[in-house]
Amino acid sequence: MSRVVILGVFVADTAYRADRMPKMGETIMGKSFALGPGGKGSNQAVASARLGAETHLISRLGQDDFGRLALETWRAAGVTPHVIQMADSYTGAAHIFIEESTGDNAIIIAPGAAAFISGQDVQAQADLIQSADVFVTQLEQPMDAAVRALEIARTANVVTVLNPAPAAELPPDMLALCDYITPNETECEALTGIAVTDARSAQKACDTLSEMGVGRPIITMGEQGAYLAGHGFVPAVHAGPVVETTGAGDAFNGAFAAALSEGKSAEVAVHYGCVTAGISVTRPGTAPAMPTRAEVEALL
Ligand code: RIB
Ligand code: NA
Repeated sequence: MSRVVILGVFVADTAYRADRMPKMGETIMGKSFALGPGGKGSNQAVASARLGAETHLISRLGQDDFGRLALETWRAAGVTPHVIQMADSYTGAAHIFIEESTGDNAIIIAPGAAAFISGQDVQAQADLIQSADVFVTQLEQPMDAAVRALEIARTANVVTVLNPAPAAELPPDMLALCDYITPNETECEALTGIAVTDARSAQKACDTLSEMGVGRPIITMGEQGAYLAGHGFVPAVHAGPVVETTGAGDAFNGAFAAALSEGKSAEVAVHYGCVTAGISVTRPGTAPAMPTRAEVEALL
């Protein structure tokens, strides 16, 4: 079995649907509420495990109900946790506002215990990281932990994937540790200053990212699909009516990593990512929306 190791964050997603956002000082009636497992690293781990990769997640939790939700989510999906459970912090939560008419979202993340994920945590898992076929991280936990993990992976010739989300300024040299980087349009513009709208601007942004040291950039572009540097667009997959797009990027990254870990080419792995993301948006929630391998292969 191929092995994917992920450094990242779990939070409980608290999703409120309403016609519009309340103004400051105002209270409005919403349409619905749902609580479920979320956080980019955890969502990506669930997607990877459902695709059939042996998947490990390095993180931190509190010792509370949301922490138990995390452990139960990983148990059910087959993700192996490598977590420190802190007595003096809490498991994080995300406040997700979803606009009923468009499905667009706005999110506040309170990371709780995950804000304490450190370079030392990562160092303690060096053997695990070095044993991976593919290592993946994002930018929800502290930056120094992400950098340290990428360094450890790179030294052992493990394939590295950085999902630079949410958008943040990166330390110099971090991109040179990445075989693949998977920003969406917004994150890509934050990194390169290039507004990506079509194949031409996407390739230009990829060229800039390559000059910054990335092996092969991939820009996820929603309904347009994903732009793979040097290849072009891999089209998005329409798998039914769109219910919730939150977590689509995580579906893409988890599936991409799982396929890559099996030795599939970047082109094929991006296709797995697009199909997985396409299915995830037809279902409510983030981690619970991740499809099985059989569901993905039926649409490949
Ligand atoms: O990428 C989607 C995730 O981002 C959600 O699950 C939410 O928790 C935020 O972290
Ligand atoms: Na979804």
